[in-house]
Amino acid sequence: MHLHKYFVLAVFILFSIVSIEVSAQLKEHPVPRLIEKDGRHALLVDGEPFLILGGQAHNSSAWPGMMPQVWTAIEAMHANTLEVPIYWEQIEPQPGKFDFSVVDMLLKQGREHKVHLVLLWFATWKNGSNHYMPEWMKLDAMKYPNITGKNGQPVDSPSPHTQAAMEADAKAFAVVMSYLKKADPQHTVLMVQVENEPGAWNSVRDYSAEAQKHFEGQVPAELLKPEVLKALNKLIVAKGNWTEVFGKDADEYFQAWSVAKYIGYVAAAGKAVYSLPLYVNAALRDPLSNPSASNYESGGPTDNVIPIWKVAAPAIDLLAPDIYLPESEKALKVIELYDRADNPLFVPEIGSGEEYVRYFYPVLAHGGIGFSPFGIDANGNGEKKEETEARLTSISQEYAMAGPMMRELAKWSFEGKIKSVVEHEDHMEQTIDLGSWQAIVTFGSSRRSNVKTNEKPLGKAMVVQLGENEFLLIGSLCHFTFKPIGANSGKAWQYLKVEEGKYENGKFKLLRILNGDETDWGGPGFGAKPAVLRTTLISR
Ligand code: DGJ
Repeated sequence: MHLHKYFVLAVFILFSIVSIEVSAQLKEHPVPRLIEKDGRHALLVDGEPFLILGGQAHNSSAWPGMMPQVWTAIEAMHANTLEVPIYWEQIEPQPGKFDFSVVDMLLKQGREHKVHLVLLWFATWKNGSNHYMPEWMKLDAMKYPNITGKNGQPVDSPSPHTQAAMEADAKAFAVVMSYLKKADPQHTVLMVQVENEPGAWNSVRDYSAEAQKHFEGQVPAELLKPEVLKALNKLIVAKGNWTEVFGKDADEYFQAWSVAKYIGYVAAAGKAVYSLPLYVNAALRDPLSNPSASNYESGGPTDNVIPIWKVAAPAIDLLAPDIYLPESEKALKVIELYDRADNPLFVPEIGSGEEYVRYFYPVLAHGGIGFSPFGIDANGNGEKKEETEARLTSISQEYAMAGPMMRELAKWSFEGKIKSVVEHEDHMEQTIDLGSWQAIVTFGSSRRSNVKTNEKPLGKAMVVQLGENEFLLIGSLCHFTFKPIGANSGKAWQYLKVEEGKYENGKFKLLRILNGDETDWGGPGFGAKPAVLRTTLISR
């Protein structure tokens, strides 16, 4: 009897120790999650806002022999997160037989490099096609069919109306998420992208007999809610088929609904086992000209169908733009369109050229949770380390500046304290209103009285409002000056102090105080390498 009592006590103590350890680990490393306040968002990692300073590997680089060059690029960039694909064809080579060797390798190497991961589930859709489906699915076109074009022509894009493919994808994705839950208690993986740029090129929708049956049926009640119809700029009606309700947009909306439902189902299956933030990326359409859907990948989360995706795929936390539009007006419009109260802004792909780096600042000003140039690694072309470093100089300088103050930037961005401008193609000066001050930013390499405009529009500036008269100025290839406005209108003004420095462990570390030539004549000025200036203004 006594013995039994001690045994029960011992088991109880052991159980308590184990559960204290587990809860300590959970406390230290809670599951990353997205939060929202007043329509702004933050990604919480270890309980605090985190800014993804990311880089995405090329599509075929997540193999052990290719990873060294990926890490060379990540190190050169000073990135804190690697976005990297995981391939359905590699993970489930035979039905129900799973191979996690590549996932294990990514987790191990990510931790060794002290870098987080965002995993990209290349599965039913990769750029609108099914090329990452396992061979056993590719070889069974009857069971896992493609869509059919308007004139019956074959289209290289999987059908979203195939229950068998959807179930297979959802099952595999759930197994992946459950593996991650077990293998990654420290949350090296921050988020998972479900599919990659889904939708269809070369056909606005599926015209197969099966799809046609649904298309001629009634629009689902969820889409007929007045707020959804209003968001889509459609008349409010109580019922109707797709053509009756959506007119000229019926084909695209039907495709968007079908793809989003399928992916929403896959995402929900994964989220049910492990609730990491999930997102879907979009191959964009021109954000300014409202083109017809035959000009872009139809059915993916392009800006015009975001309301459909939100209703169809609630397990997806955010819809994310892949920005390959270098023109400032277009890129800025995209950033604006994907920053919504119901959609945290995240740029999982952007061109890796220097002309795209300037958009890092408006992403922060829009409360974005991360930024990630695509195709950072040498992709097997034998590039030397110095060549990788030279190729990535521009983003590397940005991340070197932002890295040590990443937590502060994420917090300021979440609190709406950041404003920014970028140099447009016309190189014209830009202004930023800051209460009783207006910042005037000119783009060029010398002082205001003698401005030599930049050859390319690469300049950028951001202001963090720390107090009424106190700002953090960050920028490159530009000059700042100020004008007293509002309560300060008509007064004389000057800099009380301009301190150049950097953030380290949450503290501003002074390098020097700028004065004289460095602030007079339309200064301070910023060169190609971004600088951080803590600045206080006074009016007198
Ligand atoms: C966008 C896709 O999402 C990427 O996987 C890659 O294919 C790039 N396009 C290529 O530019």
